[in-house]
Amino acid sequence: MTEVSMDAESEARRLSRREFIKRVIASGAVASSASFVMGGLAGCSPRPAAVAGSVERLISIDVNGQLRRVDVLPQETLAMTLRYKLGLTGTKLGCDRAECGACTVMIDGTTYYSCSTLTHAVRNRKVVTIEGLRGPNGELHPVQQAFVDELAPQCGFCTPGQVVAAVALLQKNPQPTREQARHAMSGNLCRCGAYDNYLNAIMRAAGNTAEIHHGA
Ligand code: FES
Ligand code: FES
Repeated sequence: MTEVSMDAESEARRLSRREFIKRVIASGAVASSASFVMGGLAGCSPRPAAVAGSVERLISIDVNGQLRRVDVLPQETLAMTLRYKLGLTGTKLGCDRAECGACTVMIDGTTYYSCSTLTHAVRNRKVVTIEGLRGPNGELHPVQQAFVDELAPQCGFCTPGQVVAAVALLQKNPQPTREQARHAMSGNLCRCGAYDNYLNAIMRAAGNTAEIHHGA
């Protein structure tokens, strides 16, 4: 092959390469405009099409008489939502696996471990936490006052759960016996061992002074 024909061939290769690059850039531009148009149209839809099995994340939950709007992951527990998204840190996390009762809240008047309740499950239900028990001027709930009077809280970590469980008990059974109270409170552990003080406090709140036991 002559020198002239080699130059012609490499020039042709250079041109076809330039043509190739131009086409790639052009097709890329078309692809991005297509996705922009498609995305734009999808964004115009009033509600994105629901994916089968998906859960709406932005939900409203009724907590302490207020409707709270919150972004909730599908697997999120109520304790996490209350503490870390709604700032209701009175609900404590102890074991985080339904053993200790530190995270007790009321849902429709019944006690639940919020560490083991999915937030999505409490839509359309009424959640009450320890913060929801105070009076209109911030005064203590009578059960809280009885707990103070009977020196029930020691370290205090289990106390919010104990209060909520006691309030739920007294709403259903305003005058429980000590034994009934012991049974109702059996899901709330106290590492400080102040069980007798808590039971005395419940008896005091119920007006059952005959069953308040002080000392041996
Ligand atoms: S933190 Fe929920 S039961 Fe212990
Ligand atoms: S008062 Fe300390 S764990 Fe109950």
